[in-house]
Amino acid sequence: MTQNPDAIAILGGTGDQGLGLALRFAKAGRPVVIGSRKADRAEQAASEVLEKVPGADVTGFENGEATKRAPVVILSVPFEHTAGTVKGLKEVLEPGQIVVSMAVPLATAVGDGAMRTIGVWQGSAAEMVAGLVPDGVRVVSAFQNVAAHRLMDLDHPVECDVLVSGKPKDREPVVALCELIPGLRAINGGPLGNARIVEEMTALMIGLNIRYKVPEGCGIRFTGLPDG
Ligand SMILES: NC(=O)c1ccc[n+]([C@@H]2O[C@H](COP(=O)([O-])OP(=O)(O)OC[C@H]3O[C@@H](n4cnc5c(N)ncnc54)[C@H](OP(=O)(O)O)[C@@H]3O)[C@@H](O)[C@H]2O)c1
Repeated sequence: MTQNPDAIAILGGTGDQGLGLALRFAKAGRPVVIGSRKADRAEQAASEVLEKVPGADVTGFENGEATKRAPVVILSVPFEHTAGTVKGLKEVLEPGQIVVSMAVPLATAVGDGAMRTIGVWQGSAAEMVAGLVPDGVRVVSAFQNVAAHRLMDLDHPVECDVLVSGKPKDREPVVALCELIPGLRAINGGPLGNARIVEEMTALMIGLNIRYKVPEGCGIRFTGLPDG
């Protein structure tokens, strides 16, 4: 299967966060490939996107098939299923592809609360993913601090900065994805190891959402940084 160079694959794109990103990228005119463990669920999610974004170029496939179709593959499955999902893609991921890690290792993974995280041996979910992908596949960390409900609300911009971490050349295509979504601003998040800080911030933000009663989810903004 030949990759469409403009396509964006979103594995687990049937869930809130993945569907939100799918809607936004589709609205920006980019081809979107939704992945799921079940092809029919992916097709159903693609129909939902098409209903909300008439004319969108959106398709749905089983995760492995979706992975073959795009140069950028966003992992949108819960942290506790991330390693298993990536291991299942070993035969289909190709050198040069970019895998975006968005997972937050919330303590819900072990039956505890969403306002704290659990330790990950490798340092972060993103570094765990980097240790699992085949040689030559590039891993970038992004979007952990963006709220699903804000993404799904197509009538409003998503006011949030996105820390994009990874090698400089690998970050570039992911920075470009942020620019497709009104309100998002990509920030150079430095090396992939910084993902451990970014992932932790989401647990803090979930606590803020609860304490300040913001079910749609808050965002973050860094001030004082130069534009561009
Ligand atoms: N929700 C948010 O506001 C938010 C914000 C920031 C970051 N994130 C991160 O984004 C990712 C997705 O979040 P979400 O809220 O959209 O999650 P979710 O709705 O709980 O799950 C997303 C998808 O993961 C797949 N999945 C479930 N169990 C699985 C398993 N055992 N193996 C493989 N895939 C499985 C399901 O897709 P299929 O059943 O179709 O395979 C499901 O639709 C997470 O890593 C989360 O930490 C979420």
